[in-house]
Amino acid sequence: MAKNTLTVTDNRTGKTYEIPIEEGGVVRAAAFRDIKNGADDFGLMTYDPALFNTAVCRSRVTFIDGDRGILRYRGYPIEQLAEESNFLETAYLIVKGELPDQKHFRTWQHNIKIHTMVHENIKRFMEGFRHDAHPMGMLLGTVGAMSTFYPDAKNIFDLESRRLQTRRLIGKMPTVAAFAYRHSRGLPYVYPDNDLSYTGNFLSMLFKMTELQYKPNPVLEHALDVLFILHADHEQNCSANAMRSVGSSSPDPYAATAAAIAALYGPLHGGANEAAINMLMEVGSKDRIPALIKEVKAGEKKLNGFGHRVYKNYDPRAKILKKLAYDVFEVTGRNPLIDIAIELERIALEDEYFIKRKLYPNVDFYSGIIYQAMGFPMTMFPVLFAIPRTAGWLAQWAEMVRDPEQKITRPRQVYIGESERQWMPIEKRAEPTMREDAVSEAI
Ligand code: COA
Repeated sequence: MAKNTLTVTDNRTGKTYEIPIEEGGVVRAAAFRDIKNGADDFGLMTYDPALFNTAVCRSRVTFIDGDRGILRYRGYPIEQLAEESNFLETAYLIVKGELPDQKHFRTWQHNIKIHTMVHENIKRFMEGFRHDAHPMGMLLGTVGAMSTFYPDAKNIFDLESRRLQTRRLIGKMPTVAAFAYRHSRGLPYVYPDNDLSYTGNFLSMLFKMTELQYKPNPVLEHALDVLFILHADHEQNCSANAMRSVGSSSPDPYAATAAAIAALYGPLHGGANEAAINMLMEVGSKDRIPALIKEVKAGEKKLNGFGHRVYKNYDPRAKILKKLAYDVFEVTGRNPLIDIAIELERIALEDEYFIKRKLYPNVDFYSGIIYQAMGFPMTMFPVLFAIPRTAGWLAQWAEMVRDPEQKITRPRQVYIGESERQWMPIEKRAEPTMREDAVSEAI
């Protein structure tokens, strides 16, 4: 009868081991420690740079099937949420695991709204940034500083405290993000308007000028809401991993969220849509697309906004955004980059190079075009990503805090440096103690 085990023979010793295969086709890396070459041997380790094939947790938050282009939050398909839900409801779903009923949703909305204000000292703190500070750097620094404003947040094993910090972070993130934007424009900060929706209020804090009450355009308010839904979580990516890894040493969630923002700051994660826009602007017109494709196929360039570590099919979020872009253009006017993007996609998807490698447009291919049409500078793109992703980070963090299997994250390494050497006084070091190549590598 078939058994859920893996039989491994160590050809160094001739010994055979039987390793259980757990639910989901998982083997525990620790099981390999029993495979030893002798009594003093440490046992085998698995080596997995960039955690390419290593599950670091069991999670109930987000499901992705990259081969089939499926993304679900708590079991609900992203297409349904983007079509029917709103960001605050989706945030509730992600954080709490279930969709709210009307009463719970009203309470949740209220609980988020009463946390949109920030302490005046946070405002003053932000005023201290240089006039041209990158808004993502400001967000990162300010969320880290918020740790000092809420010392109660360190009670991470207390459910009520976790709930309070979750509401505070989801509530305040748009405020800090908008202050960062206004700062970089030299404009006065705008306080939250809790009569508006989550995204309506965000637009008000970004773009309000002298009017008494800002009236968000409903199409743009809705588009931003859809963008927020699409970016709310994406399981164990670089920033979620940073949240969990830093959170595993039990700091308060502001410190862990600052780490997640730092991870998202990088061009390979939150900055990819900026790279996609730059590429489309560089191409400039449809007739120059074949030349770009040629360069890409020659390995000289990558097609920014194409390909994904997990999706080997059309990224379902890109499909939704491609459609959404046209709704936004009805209000903002057409961003001409869309025509180049669509033609580029058409040519690429018919090309053997892209077909063979399963390279499809990802979420970043279209999101930047929409943000740009809405008037956001590129420096704001990762900030717009961080606001909704806060819900996902907090859900991942809370799951980690409650998981009895989790401990402080502490990977192993394969040491490839020098074996033991003896220290020598500097005047006696006739020969360099480090190899020249090692010295230059170390710098
Ligand atoms: N343009 C052209 N070729 C690409 C490509 C792209 N955007 N992405 C991957 N490839 C090619 C690689 O060169 C490689 O070809 P090879 O087999 O001939 O060497 C093959 O496809 C597999 O790529 P690989 O780098 O192994 O995939 P990955 O899973 O490690 O990388 C990304 C995933 C996202 C990092 C990668 O697709 C990429 O850099 N994309 C552009 C940046 C981007 O849009 N990032 C945002 C992701 S949401």
